[in-house]
Amino acid sequence: MGVFATTDGPSATGHEQVVFCQDTQTGLRAIIGIYSTALGPALGGTRFYPYASEDAALADVLDLSRGMAYKNALAGLDLGGGKAVIWGDPEQLKGEALLRAYGRFVESLNGRYYTACDVGTYVADMDVIARETRYVTGRSVEHGGAGDSSVLTAWGVFQGMRAAAEHVWGAPTLAGRRVGVAGLGKVGKHLTRHLLDDRAEVAATDVDPRAREWVRANHPQVELVDDVAALVAADIDVYAPCALGGTLNDETVPALRAKVVTGAANNQLAHPGIEKLLADRGILYAPDYVVNAGGVIQVADEIEGFNFERAKLRATKIYDTTRNILRLADEEGVPPAVAADRLAERRMAEVGRLRTIHLR
Ligand SMILES: NC(=O)c1ccc[n+]([C@@H]2O[C@H](COP(=O)([O-])OP(=O)(O)OC[C@H]3O[C@@H](n4cnc5c(N)ncnc54)[C@H](O)[C@@H]3O)[C@@H](O)[C@H]2O)c1
Repeated sequence: MGVFATTDGPSATGHEQVVFCQDTQTGLRAIIGIYSTALGPALGGTRFYPYASEDAALADVLDLSRGMAYKNALAGLDLGGGKAVIWGDPEQLKGEALLRAYGRFVESLNGRYYTACDVGTYVADMDVIARETRYVTGRSVEHGGAGDSSVLTAWGVFQGMRAAAEHVWGAPTLAGRRVGVAGLGKVGKHLTRHLLDDRAEVAATDVDPRAREWVRANHPQVELVDDVAALVAADIDVYAPCALGGTLNDETVPALRAKVVTGAANNQLAHPGIEKLLADRGILYAPDYVVNAGGVIQVADEIEGFNFERAKLRATKIYDTTRNILRLADEEGVPPAVAADRLAERRMAEVGRLRTIHLR
């Protein structure tokens, strides 16, 4: 296991373990971050990305693995939080040997870390990694995997949105509300269908002409808006960011007309403090990592042997979790993002502590 230069050690961040992996022949340079195994093996995807520097790769894996610990805790999973990054350009580097080398490093952790897809890695890559390790999820259906996780991600976002609607308007439905969906990719398309089935009005935008064509062809009743800025400023009740992160920032929040924000995109808050800005404007923000946990619930189910109905039931519980967080936020007088963090930390501490009861 090659170790390449580090900056600050994991002690500064609270992570349990950070592993540097190197295979010079294939050009593999990976960092596996395990934030916590208090609730079980750490689960989180592998991001394959051409980071500008090793420091940038390290910062990302530390941040993402911590986020996974919180997401998995609130999803009710018996799984801790981890994440991995492969530093390099997937277009140039990705191949069977590199992925299998990476799989062997994952295997060497002996089940402390389970990997899955993330930006730059796909279901087919997980099938290759699985030739070297048992500790991989998000494989193809033909290989016993859960397949495309956007199905339950969208279902979970819809459940979180129902809970938010109930909190603000008194009924757990989007019927008669106008929802703005930013990003009509894998998740955005499924979400649009759930919203229309619930008799919501939908306005949407996407930079990709193919996504816009999909709307025109399949759901002509959806209003297509020019861009995200126009959607944010539109007369909508709910804003659903389903494209990229950082969408809630110092420019968009003051312009937002929606009363509720619930969407799939990761890391929607551009910087700390935005959650307060939203609360001060009377906008209810259902934390991204709570409502978009359907995907990790779907792939985590593979560890038991994938069963779609069981996974869907678990993803449906995102409705209850979101409801509890919104109530706790009101009781404690804090934004929902803070309440969610507190609930996750409580579960990690309370359930994690049980391991101190010795069995033999
Ligand atoms: N797929 C999952 O299971 C899952 C799980 C958790 C979180 N997420 C997050 O949800 C978001 C959507 O995931 P996805 O799987 O649907 O991704 P995707 O790549 O299939 O879709 C993203 C869509 O957003 C569009 N887009 C990108 N930039 C845009 C912009 N500036 N304005 C408007 N549209 C823009 C793209 O054209 C694309 O259609 C991502 O942030 C992802 O990290 C996804």
